[in-house]
Amino acid sequence: MSPIKNIGIIGGGQLARMLSMSCADLGFHVHIYCPESDCPAAQVSNSITNGDYKDKNKLRHFSKSLDILTYEFENIDSSGLREIEKEITIYPPVKSLEIAQDRFLEKSFLLDLGIRTTPFYKVDDFSDLELLVKKKKKQFIIKTRRFGYDGKGQIRVKNYSDLRQKFSKQLIPPSIAEEVLDFDKEISIILARDTKGEIKAFEAAENQHKGGILFSSLVPAKISKETRQEAILISKKIASNLNYIGVIGVEFFLKNQKLYVNEFAPRVHNSGHWTMDASNISQFEQHIRAISGLPLLSPERYADVNMYNLIGTLHTKKQFHTNSKLYLYGKSEVRSGRKMGHINVIKKGAKSSLLE
Ligand SMILES: Nc1ncnc2c1ncn2[C@@H]1O[C@H](COP(=O)(O)OP(=O)(O)O)[C@@H](O)[C@H]1O
Ligand SMILES: [Mg+2]
Repeated sequence: MSPIKNIGIIGGGQLARMLSMSCADLGFHVHIYCPESDCPAAQVSNSITNGDYKDKNKLRHFSKSLDILTYEFENIDSSGLREIEKEITIYPPVKSLEIAQDRFLEKSFLLDLGIRTTPFYKVDDFSDLELLVKKKKKQFIIKTRRFGYDGKGQIRVKNYSDLRQKFSKQLIPPSIAEEVLDFDKEISIILARDTKGEIKAFEAAENQHKGGILFSSLVPAKISKETRQEAILISKKIASNLNYIGVIGVEFFLKNQKLYVNEFAPRVHNSGHWTMDASNISQFEQHIRAISGLPLLSPERYADVNMYNLIGTLHTKKQFHTNSKLYLYGKSEVRSGRKMGHINVIKKGAKSSLLE
């Protein structure tokens, strides 16, 4: 039994919604903090506090009745969390959030651990960027250091004249310029680390993005055993060095059998949604277990599975009949580029002992 009763989640989107369901499965009460009253998590949680993520007083008041606090996204002002953590435990640790929410700190942290990334450069103003693009003669992706997600805050530049065209204002927020890697595949590893330092990893997913947004995750990833093991090892190294507690998602590029870490997310991850239907334990329950001190389960995959995001629509193009499970997030407005739901399609005949 865990002494934890009340779990707080900062953020009320689909990840908080699915985390809330796992809280309920384990008998916990869940309390959401987010600005919108009709957020996806509101439909499935015990209470919701509406407030701005920067409102330190409201956040502190919200956390008073909780036993533990977690979060579903990176773009939270960490100085508020630093104050709150004097009174309540926050998992994953705030340090991992601070590193992950700044692409320059994140990539520097990876390099310090001897982990390969695509070459990147800190660019603080437009003249840094001009110099770099002129000198290197490579294609770059300019990414804002903070507040980017789903490909937002990113601009690709092919060469100097492309740069001049795309940045007419010559004013840029603090950014990094990353060399474009013509990768063979993108994969991700989702793992959980508990308070005792024990780590359990899920099967690797192979991810396709469209316009910077995750479109599908195919599981298992079609990669060699060695690559899979190396990706898990790198992810474990990241989690251990952060003294991480909770679920973490690590995104990789694979090129000529070499792995490059693209980024990591200190939270449950979209490429782990397949675990809801093709695994003995979902990433959401595993996260709640990790942060509440319950033992982690050893993930066991029941079947091959494809996860497709519903982006800007509530409908799938193909008709998925049997062996598929649809999730809609209850968002009131359908908007282009907005994640509205996902579908897990269980592949028949593949490792399906429990689904027959
Ligand atoms: N250096 C790169 N080379 C090639 N493609 C990239 C590079 N960086 C990002 N991408 C593509 O853009 C997607 C989104 O970029 P990412 O850095 O993961 O930002 P976000 O935080 O928005 O997910 C990646 O999954 C990948 O498909
Ligand atoms: Mg990403």
